[in-house]
This record gives sequence, structure tokens and C-alpha cells, in this order.
Amino acid sequence: MRLFLSTLLLASRLVSAEDGSAAWLRYAPVTQAKNSRLLPAAIIALNSTKSSPVYTAGQELRDGIAGIFSKELNVSTQARRTSSAVIVGTLTAYTNDYGDLEDAEDLEEDGFFLSTEQDQVVIVGHNERGALYGAFEYLSRLAQGDLSPTSFISNPQAPIRWTNEWNNLDGSIERGYAGPSIFFRDGFVLENVTRAAEYARLLASIRINGIIINNVNANATLLTARNIEGLARLADAIRPYGIQLGISLNFASPRDLGGLSSFDPLDPKVDAWWMNITTQIYAKVPDMIGYLVKANSEGQPGPLTYNRTLADGANMFARAVRPYGGVVMFRAFVYDNHISPANWKADRANAQLEFFQHLDGKFDENVVVQIKYGPIDFQVREPASPLFGALHNTSTAIELQVTQEYLGHQCHLVYLAPLWKEILGSDLRADSRSSKVKDIVSGSRFKRPLGGYAGVVNVGTNSTWLGSHLAMSNLYAYGRLAWDASLESEAILQDWTRLTFGLDQEVLDTITDMSMKSWPAYENYSGNLGIQTLTDILYTHFGPNPASQDNNGWGQWTRADKASIGMDRTVKNGTGNAGHYPPEVAQIYENIETTPDNLLLWFHHVPYTQRLKSGKTVIQHFYDAHYEGADTAQAFVRQWESLKSKVDNERWNHIMFRQTFQAGHALVWRDSINQFYHNLSEIPDESKRVGNHPYRIEAEQMSLVGYKLYSVNPFHAASRHTAIVTNSNSSAGIATANITFVSGTYDVAVNYYDIIGGKARYQLEIDNRTIGKWTGNLEDKLGHAPSIYLDGHSATRITFKGVEVRHGETVRITGQPNGMEPAPIDYISFLPPGVVD
Ligand SMILES: *[C@@H]1O[C@H](CO)[C@@H](O)[C@H](O)[C@H]1NC(C)=O
Ligand SMILES: *[C@@H]1O[C@H](CO)[C@@H](O)[C@H](O)[C@H]1NC(C)=O
Ligand SMILES: *[C@@H]1O[C@H](CO)[C@@H](O)[C@H](O)[C@H]1NC(C)=O
Ligand SMILES: *[C@@H]1O[C@H](CO)[C@@H](O)[C@H](O)[C@H]1NC(C)=O
Ligand SMILES: *[C@@H]1O[C@H](CO)[C@@H](O)[C@H](O)[C@H]1NC(C)=O
Ligand SMILES: *[C@@H]1O[C@H](CO)[C@@H](O)[C@H](O)[C@H]1NC(C)=O
Ligand SMILES: *[C@@H]1O[C@H](CO)[C@@H](O)[C@H](O)[C@H]1NC(C)=O
Ligand SMILES: *[C@@H]1O[C@H](CO)[C@@H](O)[C@H](O)[C@H]1NC(C)=O
Ligand SMILES: *[C@@H]1O[C@H](CO)[C@@H](O)[C@H](O)[C@H]1NC(C)=O
Ligand SMILES: *[C@@H]1O[C@H](CO)[C@@H](O)[C@H](O)[C@H]1NC(C)=O
Ligand SMILES: *[C@@H]1O[C@H](CO)[C@@H](O)[C@H](O)[C@H]1NC(C)=O
Ligand SMILES: *[C@@H]1O[C@H](CO)[C@@H](O)[C@H](O)[C@H]1NC(C)=O
Repeated sequence: MRLFLSTLLLASRLVSAEDGSAAWLRYAPVTQAKNSRLLPAAIIALNSTKSSPVYTAGQELRDGIAGIFSKELNVSTQARRTSSAVIVGTLTAYTNDYGDLEDAEDLEEDGFFLSTEQDQVVIVGHNERGALYGAFEYLSRLAQGDLSPTSFISNPQAPIRWTNEWNNLDGSIERGYAGPSIFFRDGFVLENVTRAAEYARLLASIRINGIIINNVNANATLLTARNIEGLARLADAIRPYGIQLGISLNFASPRDLGGLSSFDPLDPKVDAWWMNITTQIYAKVPDMIGYLVKANSEGQPGPLTYNRTLADGANMFARAVRPYGGVVMFRAFVYDNHISPANWKADRANAQLEFFQHLDGKFDENVVVQIKYGPIDFQVREPASPLFGALHNTSTAIELQVTQEYLGHQCHLVYLAPLWKEILGSDLRADSRSSKVKDIVSGSRFKRPLGGYAGVVNVGTNSTWLGSHLAMSNLYAYGRLAWDASLESEAILQDWTRLTFGLDQEVLDTITDMSMKSWPAYENYSGNLGIQTLTDILYTHFGPNPASQDNNGWGQWTRADKASIGMDRTVKNGTGNAGHYPPEVAQIYENIETTPDNLLLWFHHVPYTQRLKSGKTVIQHFYDAHYEGADTAQAFVRQWESLKSKVDNERWNHIMFRQTFQAGHALVWRDSINQFYHNLSEIPDESKRVGNHPYRIEAEQMSLVGYKLYSVNPFHAASRHTAIVTNSNSSAGIATANITFVSGTYDVAVNYYDIIGGKARYQLEIDNRTIGKWTGNLEDKLGHAPSIYLDGHSATRITFKGVEVRHGETVRITGQPNGMEPAPIDYISFLPPGVVD
């Protein structure tokens, strides 16, 4: 029987200063001191070397037990017999001191054994980091109020469990939404590595064992002597957490940094240069985990420049790191970004197989091909990449994105574990046998020595790490799934929630409900039926802009025209991509009848009037899903509001602000996408919502002084395509209208644009009552990639609730421009109770 403290004892107490830096390692109190009799009386950590993860485990156990139970324990690094202690060490150290431990016989690399029997706790790792993982597991149970006796072994499913951090040397982060780098500034590794060590602690607790610290679009100056010293400093800081450092390389470094005339991987001088630099790095970072290489992709140099194969390129690095046990992660994200949309058979999704399939078996044993989960690029819905099923003699890893590049920049709640699980659970039926992606990347399906997970995280200096408290469930889930891909998304989420917010049942239920609905909701209001995230692919990847997908060389096409939509990836008439899957799966995708609705437009080009299995037409599904998804986002606000007394103010306010933003931006998405396809197809919405907004007063129809009309581009990012901006960048504008709605209580919402480069001020009045004032300063508050235009990225909403309004009164908005922000306004909505539009 499991004994949950929470049911016996006082509920968790809220701790102060909840700025997010402690993430899920808060060690908040869950019980009263009198129950600490269930706890061990001492900690014995069987290693006295301070850089040892076993030593770290001792310190962590002390801090954790002090935080959770207010019980101060001493940590000894000397083995001794005692009736009440937590003993942590490697299997070797433990058996030397305490004799054989039969229960731990099946431990594998990085695995741990945990046994708790009241106040006798044994934590044994196969290696040092395994022991630390076991300590974190024990603490996680305590922090969740679970003191039930247990005894089990946990081994990882995959050896490679790394993060990728797309940090540039200047301190910026590509696709990072939480402030500047914790590793670099001004071209060099930071002197202060405290934050890097804190990050390593978080990662160790979810059993991550490597960090690639710099951007895959790598800069050769990372390899200067000064920066190599810096790498050593970072590696030293993260080593006590059992985490190894790795780096991304620029393929042209021998030329750009080394001064050679070439970077041809088969040129002996080039080979020698890499050997030399690798030796230099290992002299300073003896446990460097290896290299990550993005070559011949999106303008990056690579072996194809010299007519060498990608394997020639990868193997050059593999030779250099092999003597040190290093691994080369070689990205499969190789494609031509100048393909012709006029060619019906052209398909970026085909690039991976075309570039890599013929190289199967040609990579050295310490090379791992790192494959994005889908064939295109971290979209809200993709099938698993066919490359997973095609490489049988090559080790592979799956690349996932914790940072929400295409999924709302951490300004939208999108819990990603369900998306990842869907990919990891996809059965590609290679050789007509069970071939789940998770079993392929673990190495088990094709009996590969290596394999695993690369998660693009992109934490920054923000105290919340990712810019949003709720987004941290994704980082937590990433680590948990990389260890054990069979875990349930909801169970992972609930562990995270208890650790992050305490044991209150209502908090748990509410965050669970919001998070589990969040990916379907985002899919509903961004891109449905496998059409991809319909964001602006040519700019910030944040707000809606479906037209940006098509008619360019990037190949993220939707092929939408007046009558039809979707990529024809069939073999019989399209790009042939469906045929890149093993036959059983290829057959499913080839046939429109067997293709699941949620991938219909990924594989097939169909009329808008095509019937789905649900019975709806494609276009009506678009309309409905966008309304339903946006409604779900409105509900998140009410759900979060209900937790006000149960979550500390600091985090409650932060999250409330973001959920409110999401609710407003979900409407921007909804209306943009619906307007776009309504305009294109001219097919009306059966429910008559699209294009029909009876509660709105369009800014362009108000009486304007100091304001002028502005045609928004893309047109669908404005209600009725038009907004207003001030005439000049210095003088205020005033927009006025008579209220013709019946007298009553309304929520008054103003849709406006908040661009970077200025902080316009606004005032909303009804007759001479001031309803609200605000400033266009979201760029300081949201951390997402900003926009300099009036578009789907900058469009946003502010709402004033419960406003008394009389028929015949005058509504007035005064906008004071600032910098280059001309106080832009789209419309005002007067929303009766229960209506959001
Ligand atoms: C103690 O830790 C050091 C540093 O990690 C390591 O080299 C050594 O082997 C460890 N000793 C034991 C007994 O585990
Ligand atoms: C912990 O260590 C301190 C200092 O060495 C000692 O005074 C104290 O008695 C120890 N406490 C326990 C519970 O062993
Ligand atoms: C590489 O880093 C150096 C030094 O910080 C910088 O001057 C250079 O602009 C960077 N190159 C690129 C392509 O970012
Ligand atoms: C190093 O960084 C940490 C965490 O950001 C900070 O608390 C500390 O003050 C810094 N130390 C120095 C010497 O600047
Ligand atoms: C690397 O090259 C430099 C310059 O040619 C040389 O001084 C150094 O000894 C070489 N280092 C190694 C490890 O080969
Ligand atoms: C690569 O091969 C192509 C065709 O075989 C040839 O035209 C081209 O000159 C070669 N390029 C180099 C750099 O060797
Ligand atoms: C792949 O491995 C299988 C089994 O080990 C072997 O029969 C086959 O020849 C290999 N193929 C290549 C291309 O190396
Ligand atoms: C974190 O980012 C938020 C905006 O998302 C900002 O308001 C806050 O000041 C930042 N905090 C730190 C410590 O950088
Ligand atoms: C077959 O492909 C052509 C383009 O080559 C396209 O116009 C046509 O609609 C496709 N037919 C079917 C049945 O999908
Ligand atoms: C998403 O849209 C579908 C189809 O309209 C609907 O069944 C589902 O409830 C929606 N889910 C969410 C979370 O919005
Ligand atoms: C409001 O109504 C009054 C009286 O009908 C009219 O004179 C005025 O022009 C209207 N104002 C606006 C902004 O439409
Ligand atoms: C405007 O405000 C004054 C007091 O400041 C008040 O007497 C008057 O009734 C208000 N007018 C309207 C139309 O609300």
C-alpha cells in the first residue's frame, strides 16, 4: 500500500520568492517535523571528491531533506554501519563497503537502484551519475509526499540524453525566448559559470547527461585558445552533476579560423587540423562528450562543397574524437531551400532520405545521425520522419524542441509530451516488424551501439529559465521521456506539477486539464489536418501568416488555391514521399481513405469540400477547429484565475499575464486563418461566425482625429483588413464612436498592435469615464521574437471587464505614439456576458 503523506499531514505551504529559478527542485515543505521519524538520521555519500556526482548527491539530499522536512542532517563521506541512514554511492563503492547487493545486479550504465524502508535508504548507481539520479528520484518522492517503501532498479532506454542550446557567442540565442545566454557574452565564454552549474543541476535531476552549449549555426571562433579555456571552465562547473559538455562545430573552421585554403574532409591537412584542435580541447576537457555538426544546410558549409559525402564529413570528426570516447552527432536536417514550387513533385520532405539513405552503413560507429521528429521542421503536427525507418546500419537520435519555435514562443501554453509521445510511439513497420521510433532511437530495434535524444532547449538568463513557468513542464517531460519513453504524458505532468506547485488537488487537476488540452487547442487555432503550423515562416515563426508558406523555395508548402489545399505526397500522383516509409505504412499514407484526418493535408491535395471521417468538410473543420481552439484558450484564463488563493502571487501573476495574452492571441490566430481561407475559397462558414462580428466597432469606422487608416499586411491580421495609426510619430490621435449597443455590462476588449521600437500609450474612455490606460510594452514582458510591423505577431488584445455602458454614450481611445510605434488600433469589442469575439 502506498502511503501518501499528503493525506496524513498538512498540505504544502507556499514558499516565498517564487521566481522560478528553483523550477521543480524547490524542496518546499510538505510535512511537520514530527513525522521526520520516517526519515534517515544521517547521509552517507561514498565519495569525498567534490567534483563527484556522488558527493553532489550527498549535498542535494541534505538540502532536500532540510527543505522538505526542516530536518538538518550531516553528510558523511565515510562508510559506516548504522541503523538509520541514506547511503548513496556507486555499485562498486557500495559493495566494497557494505558487501554484495544482489538486487542491483541488473544495473546498466547510468542506471540506479533505490530501496527505501522507513529510515533505511540505499541509493546505488551503476556509475557516479547514476547514484545522483537515484538521489534525485528519492527526493522527488519525498517532495511529492510519498514515503512509501520501495525497491527497484531504473535503467535508461537510451545512452544519449542531451540538450542542444542554440547559443551564439555574442550572447544571443537563436529561437530562445528567455533572455540572453547563460554560457556566452561578447564572443567569449562567460567568466561566471554559476548559472550554468544551476542549469546542470536541473538537468541532472531529469537524467540528462550532455549539453551541446552552442548554436548548430556555429561560429569558428569558439575554437580559439581563450574559448577553449572557457569550455574547460564550463565543463568543470557541470561535471559535479554528471553532465558532460559538447560543442557544435562550423565545418569551415580549418579555413575560417585555421587559415587553411580548404575545409575538404579528405584533405589530410584538414584532417590534421581537426585532430590537432580536438587534442587541444580534450587536454582541457578530458570528458568532452563530442561534437554536433550541421553541414550543407541553410547556407552552412559542409562536405558537399567538395563533392564529398555527408558520411565523409561526419567520419572526419568521428576519427578525431574516437580516441577520447567522443561521439559525433550529425544532423539530418540537410535540404535545399531553393526548390521550385512550380514543380508538383518537388518536396523538401524528401530531402532527408535522398541525402542519407544511400549512406546507411557508411558512418563510423561513433557517429549518430540526429533526425528532427518530422520531415520538415518542428511543426504542430507531422508524421514521424521516414528516415527513422530507413537507416538500419546507422545509429540515430531524435531531435525534439523544448523551445517553442513554431508553437507559441512560450507565450502560448503547449504541453509537448503528447506530441512527442505520438511520434515516439509511431510504428514504422520496417521489414514488416514492430519498429517504433522510440525503439529505433534507443538502438534496440536495429541493434545499434548508440542512439537517443537531442532536445533543443535554449534556456536563458531569465529566472524562469524558459521565460514561462508553465513551459518548464516541457523541459521536465523531455528528460523523463528520454529516460523512459513509455511513461504517460499525464503522469509526467503531474509529477512536475506537484514538485512545482505543491500537492493541492485543485491545482493539480487544473494544471493537468489545461496542459493536456493545450497541444490540441494550439493545433486547432494554428494549423489543422496536417497542414503545418500556419505561422509566418519568413519572419519570426510566431503569429499567423498562411500565405508565407507558399510560392517560395523553402518547401513548407500548403499548395492552397481557390478550390483545394494540401501537399500531394502520394507516389501515384505526387511527390512520392508517402513511399519513403516502409511498405505497410506507405500504403496507409498513399490512400486517402486510410490516412488519418490529422495528416490528411500533409499527404493529400484535396478540395476544401472534401469530407473528413468526421463527416465535416475540410473548410468547415478549419472554421470549427479555430473557434474551438480559441475557446479553449479563453477557458484557460478562467481556470488559472480560479487558483488565485492557491498559488503564490509572483507566479500566479506571471502566468495570469501569459494566459491572458494567449487568449487574445488565440483570437488573432483564429480570425486570421479563418479570414484567409474564407477569402480564398469564398465558402461560407455554416455557423456564420467567420467575417461576422456583431460586437465589434472597427477602428477605421470611428471618427478619427490625428489617426489615419492603415492597410495591414498580411490583410487577415486585421479585422476587415484595416487598422488605424497616428498621423505622426509625435502627436496623439483620438478615435471616437457612438455606442449603439443596448445599455448593460460589457467586457470591453481593444485589439491593437504592439511592435518593437516604441512604447505607445493608450487611454480608453466612455463618455468622460476612464476605463483603462495601458502601454504597448509587451516586448519587455513576453520575451517572444518581436515584430516591427502591424501583423499577426504584433496583434494583441487588452480586456476591461465588467464595464457599465449606456446606449448612446461615446467611446474614445486616445493613442500617444512613441518611437516608431504609431499607437495602432484594430477594433473595440463590446462583449456581453459569456461572449468572446
Ligand atoms: C570519486 O569521485 C571521483 C571524481 O568523480 C572519481 O574519480 C572516483 O573514481 C570516485 N571514487 C569512487 C570510489 O567512486
Ligand atoms: C553534525 O555535525 C556537527 C558538526 O560536526 C555536530 O556538532 C553534530 O552533532 C552532528 N549532528 C548529528 C545529528 O550527527
Ligand atoms: C563569430 O564570432 C566573432 C567573434 O565574436 C564575430 O566577430 C563574428 O561576427 C561571428 N560570425 C558570425 C557569422 O556570426
Ligand atoms: C555569478 O552569477 C550568479 C548567478 O547568476 C550570481 O548570483 C553571482 O552574484 C555572480 N557572481 C559574480 C562574482 O558576479
Ligand atoms: C597543434 O598545432 C600547433 C600549431 O601548429 C602546434 O604548436 C601544436 O603542437 C599542435 N598540437 C597538437 C596537439 O598537435
Ligand atoms: C563536383 O562534381 C560535379 C559533377 O560531378 C563537377 O561538375 C564539379 O566540378 C565538382 N566540384 C568540385 C568542387 O569538385
Ligand atoms: C547492414 O547490416 C546488415 C546486418 O548486419 C548487413 O547484412 C548489411 O550488409 C548491412 N548493410 C550495409 C549497407 O552496411
Ligand atoms: C524574465 O522575463 C520577464 C518577461 O518574460 C521579465 O518581465 C522579467 O524581468 C525577466 N526576469 C529576469 C530575471 O530576467
Ligand atoms: C495530380 O497532379 C496534378 C499536378 O501534376 C494535379 O493538378 C492534380 O490535381 C492531381 N490529381 C489528383 C487526382 O490528385
Ligand atoms: C479541437 O477541435 C476539435 C474539432 O473541432 C474538437 O473536437 C476538439 O474538442 C478541440 N479541442 C480543443 C482542446 O480545443
Ligand atoms: C454620434 O452621434 C451624434 C448624434 O447623432 C453625431 O452627431 C455624431 O457625429 C456621432 N459621433 C460619431 C463619432 O459617430
Ligand atoms: C462628466 O463628468 C462630470 C463630473 O466630472 C459629471 O457631472 C457629468 O455627468 C459627466 N458626464 C457624463 C456624460 O457622464
